[in-house]
Amino acid sequence: LTTLATLLALSSAAFGGDSPDTKEIDRRIDRALFDTISLGAPLYNAGDPYGCYRLYQGTAMALLPLSSQSEGLREILDAGLKRAEAQPRYDQRATVLRESFDKARGLIAGRLQPAKPLWDRLGGELAVKAVVHDFVAMAAGDPKVDFTRGGKYPVDAAGVANLERRLVELISAVSGGPLKYTGRDMKSAHAGMGISDAEFDALGADLVAVLKKYYVPKRETDELLAAVVSTRKDIVEAPGAASTAAAAKPDKSLFDRLGGEPAVVAVVDDFVARAAGDPKVNFTRKGTASEWQPTAENVETLKKHLVQLIGATTGGPIRYEGRGMKEVHKGMMITGAEFDAIAVDLKATLDKFQVPEKEQQELFKIVGSTRAEMVERP
Ligand code: HEM
Ligand code: HEM
Repeated sequence: LTTLATLLALSSAAFGGDSPDTKEIDRRIDRALFDTISLGAPLYNAGDPYGCYRLYQGTAMALLPLSSQSEGLREILDAGLKRAEAQPRYDQRATVLRESFDKARGLIAGRLQPAKPLWDRLGGELAVKAVVHDFVAMAAGDPKVDFTRGGKYPVDAAGVANLERRLVELISAVSGGPLKYTGRDMKSAHAGMGISDAEFDALGADLVAVLKKYYVPKRETDELLAAVVSTRKDIVEAPGAASTAAAAKPDKSLFDRLGGEPAVVAVVDDFVARAAGDPKVNFTRKGTASEWQPTAENVETLKKHLVQLIGATTGGPIRYEGRGMKEVHKGMMITGAEFDAIAVDLKATLDKFQVPEKEQQELFKIVGSTRAEMVERP
């Protein structure tokens, strides 16, 4: 009987003389769903899930044609009917359909009463002004943001007042408020400041902290933050850099990071002893035409030249006084495997001195680049 009543109510909506607009269709579908739930839920609770399901199913099927005229609704009801039928028990079927009814009603509710603009939900101009005032004070005092860019943009009262005004306008413009933004676009306003991602993120964190202080709900916080974050590509000029101070200062040389000359001398000592005692390297070239005598003097020269070579190729203040790598190792018939073995020895030495991974990799890049000149038997 109820299904019949619902159907009648709907048919008058769908096929009545004056074609109802989509809002009216939404309203009628919502009413039908509400009525159906009001009748079905008590059945379910009274121990008749079968009756409840049949009622829900009848309404859903009856609503299908009309729901085609209301965006997204037919899909919800269609999916609900199919999923319900796939359930083994009637109470499960009723529950599944009820869920799709709730979903459909949620969609309609959102359409019929669109949310107030973010600007109003933030509390309008007075609230936004207060938030902005706190935010600017916080950002200006946050070393992670470096708002004045190392003092290049000193924060005087007039500058702060202008900035706050522009920020209020900007928030209004992106949140559906009445104020128009009258400042420069974000790209030109921040051009040349060298703002990094980390600084941008720090500013975002300040904003979140201020919004929290004003009890702005999560939804509104997220919406405002999304608008702010969308300006990132226009504002950040130094992606990845930790701060402008760090970006301005070039990296220390590999030589310095290795620990300078004393550290390199110690590394070379250990490395030469290791390589000299490693049969896989055959450092003295036993069995070749160019056998080398590891006399004290020869070893001394070798070490001195190795320290110089490392110093010169890692940015140290040292000149290499030895011969070229090709010339030195010519005729030693060094194999690829021997070269690899000496690299393993070097790695063992660097590990012993706890040289960090990054520095090791940089050093191996330099050593590896000599391979072609040294290996005569691949
Ligand atoms: C770490 C990030 C940021 C830093 C260091 C920074 C710094 C600055 C500075 C120093 C000024 C004053 C420029 C001048 O006096 O010429 C300024 C202006 C401004 N900034 Fe930022 N800013 C940052 C991020 C943002 C973000 C995320 C927004 C908004 C989405 C924003 C909006 C503005 C506005 C509206 C102005 C005023 C532009 C005008 O008056 O024409 N800033 N910013
Ligand atoms: C299996 C690999 C290698 C073997 C068997 C080997 C062997 C030798 C030998 C026997 C000498 C002494 C030559 C002489 O004083 O006449 C020498 C010198 C030298 N080697 Fe190697 N070497 C190898 C790899 C390397 C690598 C990877 C480097 C550095 C990238 C290197 C840098 C030098 C330097 C700087 C000298 C001193 C050059 C001079 O005094 O003018 N060697 N090497």
